[in-house]
Amino acid sequence: MYSLDYNCTKISLLQGDIIDQETEAIVNAANSSLMGGGGVDGAIHRAGGASIMLQCLQIRKKEWPNGLPAGEAVITTGGNLRARYVIHTVGPIWKGGSSGEEEKLASCHENSLRVALVKKLKSVSFPAISTGAYGYPVSLASNVALKAVKKTLDSEPVAKGGLHEIRFVLFTLGDYEAYVTAMKAVFH
Ligand code: APR
Repeated sequence: MYSLDYNCTKISLLQGDIIDQETEAIVNAANSSLMGGGGVDGAIHRAGGASIMLQCLQIRKKEWPNGLPAGEAVITTGGNLRARYVIHTVGPIWKGGSSGEEEKLASCHENSLRVALVKKLKSVSFPAISTGAYGYPVSLASNVALKAVKKTLDSEPVAKGGLHEIRFVLFTLGDYEAYVTAMKAVFH
């Protein structure tokens, strides 16, 4: 575990499985259909149960009939998960870095935190969005993610009664080490 405090919010990194987290919300690395998939998406739907999928269907029908665009975020309850909520966001597919991937990945984090703040949640866990099936190099994605967190904590009035903890849950040691390197670069 590696953590630091920034503007009254604890930012922590750990190696583990996002479905085990007891934070109020966990973030899903979804796809635009919101109909599930592999990786984090598959794990969350398997562990969370059918109620999450039913809420995603409603969201598709009412808010995003053509699918959730990359960078956007929506929220459902956590179903059978320890987390009370799941924030579903769609990361960019890596195409080499000159197709707006950085901006979209930053938006995933900023919009997910905004959704959490609107809901007055105290803690959120992120996976390493886009670094699996979507191919975003983790050394780059980790920097984008942590810069987006810093930008949110600098801009949103979160100091009083805002987020107490933002957690990144990395599945592999390599990803964990990349996020530690990025955390030191962005916050020190
Ligand atoms: N807990 C934490 N991290 C996990 C877990 C887990 N249970 N399972 C996988 N990961 C890690 C992967 O190792 C990777 O580092 O999450 C990161 C993101 O990988 P993906 O889940 O493949 O997500 P992404 O790269 O954003 O691709 C999204 O994959 O699963 C489909 O439906 C999803 O189409 C979407 C695409």
